[in-house]
Amino acid sequence: MHPTKEKPDIKIHDLEFELMISEKEIQDRTNEIGHALTQKFKDSVPVLLGILNGSFIFMADLMRACDMPCEVSFIKLSSYSGTTSTGIVKSIIGLQTDLDGRDVIIIEDIIDSGETMHQFLPQLLDMNPSSVTIVSLLVKPTAMKHDIRVDHVGFEIPEKFVVGYGLDYNEQGRNLKDIYQLKKGS
Ligand code: IMP
Ligand code: MG
Repeated sequence: MHPTKEKPDIKIHDLEFELMISEKEIQDRTNEIGHALTQKFKDSVPVLLGILNGSFIFMADLMRACDMPCEVSFIKLSSYSGTTSTGIVKSIIGLQTDLDGRDVIIIEDIIDSGETMHQFLPQLLDMNPSSVTIVSLLVKPTAMKHDIRVDHVGFEIPEKFVVGYGLDYNEQGRNLKDIYQLKKGS
């Protein structure tokens, strides 16, 4: 990853952030993943299951990059407070779709410690899906504490706190088109 300086640094709450991944890089990678999912699921009607809040923007772009019949559903899971994981998945809200016998594609914004997926996957398997595929726009491999098999990774990033394209710092920054990393010394 080569941070470019085409965009000025930004401030959210008390912290300063600098560009890490551009809108164009995100779009290109999202389209590639969409094509891969289209090949893999062309003979079924998978359910794209977004983990709220962070995945909603990635989901919207990824779903439009998928060229096969597919459905969408969302659940809310939360383990973060400020810039660190609390380690506890606090809430699981509102799954309306019956996943029994379905090909489920989990859409995550970022997998950090892997704690959220580690706690959620057994609950998902209880719902008896015929397959589970994990897609995450970002993965922090060195932060992973659990052995989570991520089938499609947008970008592997170092252990830096990031915002933008759906990701927040205390609920702000989700509307940024690019992904920004916390500046050193910020
Ligand atoms: P995990 O349970 O540690 O894998 O963290 C997963 C969740 O924490 C993600 O779905 C995000 O909502 C949040 N998260 C992890 N790292 C970051 C980050 O760098 N910026 C913003 N949110 C993050
Ligand atoms: Mg999340």
